[in-house]
Amino acid sequence: MKQHSLKKEFRQFAKQQDALFGEVIQGKKRKGSATGASNEQGQSTQPTNAATSRFDEHLALVTEEWVNAQSLEGMKQMISGCQKCPLGATRNKLVFGTGNPNADIVVIGEAPGADEDASGEPFVGAAGQLLTKVLAAINFSRDDVYIANIIKSRPPGNRTPERSEVEQCIPYLYKQLDLIKPKFILAVGLTAALSLLNRKATMKELRGSVHDYFGITMVVTYHPAALLRNPQWK
Ligand code: URA
Repeated sequence: MKQHSLKKEFRQFAKQQDALFGEVIQGKKRKGSATGASNEQGQSTQPTNAATSRFDEHLALVTEEWVNAQSLEGMKQMISGCQKCPLGATRNKLVFGTGNPNADIVVIGEAPGADEDASGEPFVGAAGQLLTKVLAAINFSRDDVYIANIIKSRPPGNRTPERSEVEQCIPYLYKQLDLIKPKFILAVGLTAALSLLNRKATMKELRGSVHDYFGITMVVTYHPAALLRNPQWK
């Protein structure tokens, strides 16, 4: 799909949210479009080429083998035994991410739940089924997009990930985004959105805007699990 029509689809998704949830999502002037621009974290969002990455600033500090991975599959194999945080000891399977390795849209959730921990795939439980429907509503299948989480291992009892766990795990996501090079990010849930934006805000504040994440257009929406708990939000 061409970028302009995809952008239209994404805007349409924002409009659809408006119809569903009663709030207008408006495009903000993108900070990344001008020379010397920075994103909402104050980091450079200069266009990248083969030699540079939007995430260089973070990935340059990493000395582990996976940082040089040339493919998602290669990277997945390199990190499947990760024990960098205590969640490595309690998980069953590391949930790396699935979908189109060249996707224009990456959907980012919080962390695997029990079903994902058992299967090794993100968003396969009840929340995942609703996510599939949300994607279908904007004419995307799960195979069109790439789906990943901030945290790759299930926090016991599905608790919210600790700050330290996010800090340990998020470089993996930077590398995944670096390999995929999406045009859009759909952050589902407040935890995912705040972990990405690295600041405090409410869902109401975030849902009203189109955000800039390292030069990638980002929209924030409710987590499907929250929609399941609050069907009146649909
Ligand atoms: N919730 C998430 O945030 N991610 C999953 O993969 C499943 C449920």
